[in-house]
Amino acid sequence: MSVFAYRNGVLHAESVSLEDVAREVGTPFYLYSTAALESHYNAYAGAFAGQDAGVCYALKANSNLAVIRTLSRLGAGGDVVSVGEMKRALAGGIPAERIVFSGVGKTRDDLRAALEAGIHQINVESVPELEALSEVATSLGVEAPIAFRVNPDVDAKTHAKISTGKKENKFGIDYDHAREIYRRAADLPGIKPVAIAVHIGSQLTDLAPFRAAYERVAALLHQLREDGHDIQRLDLGGGLGITYRNEAPPDLADYAAMVRSITGNLGCRITLEPGRSLVGNAGILVSRVIYVKQGLHRRFAIVDAAMNDLIRPSLYDAYHGIVPVAEPADGVAAEPYDVVGPVCESGDTFAVQRPLPPLADDDLVAFLSAGAYGAVMASTYNTRPLVPEVLVNGDRFSVIRPRPTVEEMLAAERVPDWL
Ligand code: LLP
Repeated sequence: MSVFAYRNGVLHAESVSLEDVAREVGTPFYLYSTAALESHYNAYAGAFAGQDAGVCYALKANSNLAVIRTLSRLGAGGDVVSVGEMKRALAGGIPAERIVFSGVGKTRDDLRAALEAGIHQINVESVPELEALSEVATSLGVEAPIAFRVNPDVDAKTHAKISTGKKENKFGIDYDHAREIYRRAADLPGIKPVAIAVHIGSQLTDLAPFRAAYERVAALLHQLREDGHDIQRLDLGGGLGITYRNEAPPDLADYAAMVRSITGNLGCRITLEPGRSLVGNAGILVSRVIYVKQGLHRRFAIVDAAMNDLIRPSLYDAYHGIVPVAEPADGVAAEPYDVVGPVCESGDTFAVQRPLPPLADDDLVAFLSAGAYGAVMASTYNTRPLVPEVLVNGDRFSVIRPRPTVEEMLAAERVPDWL
């Protein structure tokens, strides 16, 4: 059963009424459910029980400190892509020895910070980065435990903007040169290759591309061991999809069984880097209808959330479910609405001709599946303050990031004294 359900005619998150939160916090706001975060994490832990495997949560999906803390308390490590995220992971209670540092363009400063923090593994994505890391590690007198992220040239069959495992994508080192690059790495001072990493894309709804990529990684592992490298870990990335509309992503048990069938006898510790599948369906964005406007051919529901708050529909044509917070009466007929934000761009559209129960000014609506790549991708375009975030646990809720005032936003800027 979803943690988001109607009770006494009002949509609740766990035991908290969204009307109560809206009254106290104002709209729009993001809201996350502790029970959903826990159940998604425990589903991974359960599916991989018995395998030498650990979850490093991909913080980029949702890096609010309270969300990180919720997952770290359950035992999650972290996959980070910036020093900022690394600091968040540490502040959220993830120990350095459970943090993996990924990213296609890590600077020398990033690499130094990662080594100084003593993190578990750096996933290197190019030869120039390898050389930079060798220099930095040598200057600090340490040895950097690394994986190379290999690009297996596998089509993830997902949206082009979130597909990362094809030759033409910017990610990773070329599979066919991996052996040679590992050899080079082993000869460099300050570098210790300990793992192979792969991540082919996000929102995958089929096991086949994962299987193809992991089989290539296993084949490479054999070659690297023949070459004398002591590789004991495989980082299999994230990417497992969720249901936004009617997608049927693979079952975690099937995913885990597939991983076991390929890696079970390799004697490697497995790292998984899920983001979306942990937090996506644990969060919603709640917004208020400002006006319902009847156009010549269309009826528009103009809501107080906009593309700057949730950019996925504009950027990826992504579908997010939309439901009214007040439960519609039985048998009420749906009508098509274009659900749009107030930003001055036609791209500020959440849904086109979406069948919804009749909406009126001031009604509350919830955008579903907004826990991943929602708040983290928000901007202040149109000088719209970042939307607050709320965490629910049972019948409690807390604001875990308050809404800044416009005055605070202005105070962060400087006008030169010569102006
Ligand atoms: N590991 C690496 C190296 C990644 O690049 C990513 C996501 C993940 C793990 C986590 O993937 P997940 O389990 O969340 O699919 N903003 C886009 C998604 C971008 C994903 C980027 N990389 C969206 O809103 O769909």
